[in-house]
Amino acid sequence: MGNDYRTIASCRICGSGSLHEFLDLGEVPPVNSFLESPSGEETTYPLEVVVCEACNHVQLKHTVRRSLLFENYSYFSSASEPIVEHFGDYAKTVEKRYLTTDDLVVEVGCNDGVMLHQFSDSVRTVGVEPAKNVAETARERHDLNVLTEFFGEQAAESVRDEYGTASSIIANNVLGHVDDLHDVMRGVETLLEEDGIFVIEVPYLVELLNDVKFDTIYHEHISYFALGPLAELFSQFGMEVFDVERLDVHGGTIRIYAQRSENDRATSDYVKDLFALEETLGLDSLVVYDEFREKVKQRRKQLTKLLDEFAEQGYSIVGYGASAKGNVLLNYCNIGPETVEYIIDTTPAKQGTYSPGMHIPVRDPSTFRDPYPDISLLLAWNYRDTILEKEQSFRESGGRFVMPAPHVDVI
Ligand code: TYD
Ligand code: ZN
Repeated sequence: MGNDYRTIASCRICGSGSLHEFLDLGEVPPVNSFLESPSGEETTYPLEVVVCEACNHVQLKHTVRRSLLFENYSYFSSASEPIVEHFGDYAKTVEKRYLTTDDLVVEVGCNDGVMLHQFSDSVRTVGVEPAKNVAETARERHDLNVLTEFFGEQAAESVRDEYGTASSIIANNVLGHVDDLHDVMRGVETLLEEDGIFVIEVPYLVELLNDVKFDTIYHEHISYFALGPLAELFSQFGMEVFDVERLDVHGGTIRIYAQRSENDRATSDYVKDLFALEETLGLDSLVVYDEFREKVKQRRKQLTKLLDEFAEQGYSIVGYGASAKGNVLLNYCNIGPETVEYIIDTTPAKQGTYSPGMHIPVRDPSTFRDPYPDISLLLAWNYRDTILEKEQSFRESGGRFVMPAPHVDVI
């Protein structure tokens, strides 16, 4: 093990040592590391979740060294049409409300440039993206300025020295991946203009808890944010939240607008509403988290029982979409190739490999039709509508999908 991972002693936001452990998903391998052979070597790491009793921040108990998780990062945002559209609308909103000619927009974790390239030519844009292949795509495809670095105080200084201060710093689905949140905030402090804005999107903890989406918990996702703990983080750096939106994207996201506290943009009513919602839900008590653990165990029971029954009846079962979350689900429920014969996936790099932990073969989608299996476990449930539409003839010919979320369901 050595320094492959570390166990935190204190909260990543407020530094309190009072951490309440409420969920243990076991020893799990990195869920994005598919294997070349079914007997391939793999290392597992603990996957445990704690909530800080002081600021209520929900976070992993361990940090796995990021080079062990992100070696070949293969997530390209532009691969999905609705995502491209989402970021186009988002760029237009930010530009219209907050930017004027020649203003600088910096996007942390700009991925393949999916959002940055959708700003108009009247503003200047710079991306900061640590994954080399993804950053290179952003440069080649959209001619964007991209620094290949992890964002923090140092990277912020480099950007500021070369381009000046930023009117807007944007970070989408990034903060959840960051171990040292304070370094990111120091970066924002360094780079943001006095009256600039910091805009982030993160998956919303409330959705995770409500729909029991426990399979979105894995080593890459270090933090699971609600507004309360985020506001605490910002306040440590002289910043405050002045607006917030809830969005459907990625199965439930919040977009948060923050400014330096000395600015006088009014706080929207929706910010107050969301604080109130989090209080009503009891996110500041331990009960909700302990209840969540019980719901997760219940989910595992229901799903394994259902699949065992199908298997006993002699039905063939396959997995649909070799997603990271699918691998969490399969590992936690201990569902292996004796139950799920193979998983189909459209990603060429995953085809011909074996799923991390459970070693289920991953195959080209053409396998699915030749002939259709009886049951398909929808591991990429975030694409439910797209997949149901695409696979109409599977269901017409008697095939059934098993849904693992938001409820265990057969359709
Ligand atoms: P993704 O949405 O990236 O989720 P995660 O972050 O949990 O990995 O993964 C979805 C996977 O499903 C991806 O590997 C592509 C695959 N997929 C299909 O095989 N067929 C489809 O029709 C769709 C929409 C996705
Ligand atoms: Zn805390």
